[in-house]
Amino acid sequence: MAADDMDIPAPQDSALTALYAPKPVRPGHPVPHITSLEEYSERWKRSLAEPNAFFGDLAKKLLSWSRPFDVVSFGDFTAGNVSWFLNGQLNACYNCVDRHALTTPEKIAIIWDSDEIGVHRSITFGEVLAEVSRLANVLKAYGVGKGDAVAVYMPMVPEAAYAMLACARIGAIHSVVFAGFSADALRDRILDAKCKVLLTADQGKRGGKTIHLKKIADEALAEAPCVEKVIVFRRTNDPSVPFTSPRDVYWDEEVSKQRPYCPCEPMVSEDPLFMLYTSGSTGKPKGVLHTTAGYLLGVTATTKYVFDLHEGDVHGCMADVGWITGHSYILYGPLSNGVTTVMFESIPTYPNAGRYWDLVDTHKITSFYTAPTAIRALRRLGDEHVARYDLSTLRTLGSVGEPINPEAWLWYHDIVGRGRCNIVDTYWQTETGSIIVTPMPGATPTKPGSATLPFFGIDIAVLDPTTGQELAGNNVTGVLAIRNSFPSVARSIYNDHARFLDTYLNPYKGYYFSGDGVTRDEDGYYWIRGRVDDVINVAGHRLSTAEIESALILHPACAEAAVIGVPDEVTGQAIVCFCTLKAGDEGDIAAALKAQVRTHIGPFATPKRVVITPELPKTRSGKIMRRILRKVAGLEVTEKDLETEDGLREKLGDLTTLAEPGIVAVLVKIFAGRT
Ligand code: WT7
Repeated sequence: MAADDMDIPAPQDSALTALYAPKPVRPGHPVPHITSLEEYSERWKRSLAEPNAFFGDLAKKLLSWSRPFDVVSFGDFTAGNVSWFLNGQLNACYNCVDRHALTTPEKIAIIWDSDEIGVHRSITFGEVLAEVSRLANVLKAYGVGKGDAVAVYMPMVPEAAYAMLACARIGAIHSVVFAGFSADALRDRILDAKCKVLLTADQGKRGGKTIHLKKIADEALAEAPCVEKVIVFRRTNDPSVPFTSPRDVYWDEEVSKQRPYCPCEPMVSEDPLFMLYTSGSTGKPKGVLHTTAGYLLGVTATTKYVFDLHEGDVHGCMADVGWITGHSYILYGPLSNGVTTVMFESIPTYPNAGRYWDLVDTHKITSFYTAPTAIRALRRLGDEHVARYDLSTLRTLGSVGEPINPEAWLWYHDIVGRGRCNIVDTYWQTETGSIIVTPMPGATPTKPGSATLPFFGIDIAVLDPTTGQELAGNNVTGVLAIRNSFPSVARSIYNDHARFLDTYLNPYKGYYFSGDGVTRDEDGYYWIRGRVDDVINVAGHRLSTAEIESALILHPACAEAAVIGVPDEVTGQAIVCFCTLKAGDEGDIAAALKAQVRTHIGPFATPKRVVITPELPKTRSGKIMRRILRKVAGLEVTEKDLETEDGLREKLGDLTTLAEPGIVAVLVKIFAGRT
């Protein structure tokens, strides 16, 4: 990794440094699973000293096995070869559904709250078992079996959960594609995994808008002939939605032909459970591969301890099932624990900014999980939207997806939590499968803006980005790396293990490289500073700058493109594109290029700004100097700085390697609004 580009994002400016003690237990509320920092610390130390004993016990306690494992962990993680719970056999769907349906069939598994306020539905474990079984039988009838990849492109309806669980039940590998992705993005993901079946819906509803899923899917399928069968769930029943018989079949008609029981396929621990595409530093998305036992243990344990779940709890994770947060904390984690999970179809501001708190009040949510971007947006809209609801059932409030600024943290704590809920800022990634740095509610004193301490079994190292040397002790800043294996870590990239090694394990030999900058403060607390690679995070959505650049240069007018993230008050980061044009192009090219990104990736990737520039700042060897682009677009350089060479060097660092030094002034003037 080039040191030139390894800028560690600056810390969040804040005067808020107070330490918040874990909250006292309120009358009628359960005592937390872990009640002191000492208890956490003892368990964490044991988890590192004796990982096999620790995770072996946990796996027996938290999961149901159809055949016990006889080796807890094996292999060398940092060489890219690790396995957990060898020779064990289990089924993720059995763990999430059957074992609860068999004992408490009437218990609510899923509360679905629709786009329309007041319209919601509760589904029992018994009903989930029947629905999932029927769908599993449909998949089998179409020839889907163990190890086959199935694409899922669904809105936020219970059927999305059934789709994933039905795959898990028969040993098929689900590949969920977020419903905000475009046809091109869906096509690429289907082709990469060679999916033969696609589960989708006619349309989706979100914030009063209609998402034309089937229409988009059809466009994708026109160039993805590997898909033989499309199972279409009717969410809106709009008759104008295209339907191609015999390739397409209706979900309701198909499941009605099948019996409501389907045996679970016994899976060995390391059999793949799912893949999920995520963005990396090249244009091609990676199919991150998770396996059955390790992933399930990681999400079951973290959901239990981090959200401090107890019998009768209702867990409300506001993510979309299309992202890892939805996989782990809407679906697998809560259901494996036998806890009611909420699936929310809408957005936090529809029909008004009280929508989340209406959910909490209506469904008596006990743990609530959302992203800083939503917290910041709601904070701006005023406290009155929170004040009118009864939020007394809440005990734990979680944040995930990007660094949370202390001001937003404090608002969450004071206004939503009313000072009596534990805030858990949880750090993890698609690749880690489950939370890896987090407070333990009831045990860890918190600091606004810090994800605090590692979860059980996680051994964090802070590395000097340039030398790769470990930075020992406290008060250090570097890149976040992990020394050891843990059950839920991804095992590979689908069909590209070499890329897995190159991305995560080869950059710093002997460590897993996270791609994030981090500070370990004087108390040993971790402060995640943001990505140090070419990945940007817009409203908690991870995007690769290279992926956006590849989309831009597909446009006939675009010669070259460089994309960066700039700070944004609500979305954390926003996308700014720098493009040079082929001669002779006219019209509103910036708008056309924005549209190009929407079409190629999806609306959530729409650039905030496209800057047309005569050239890009490059070194004489032709490497784009993104550092310059980031600083100029972040308005860190002003026209005044251009006046002296020293001033400029102070702001931008060494510019002697720049092939055309004049470009800096051109760019600064564009951002000053002067050209
Ligand atoms: C990246 C992973 C993990 C689920 C959602 C995103 C950033 C995640 C935090 C946090 C600071 C965070 C990191 C990470 N991130 N959680 N609590 N504080 N940054 O999953 O799409 O795989 O993105 O999100 O940069 O590497 P993802």
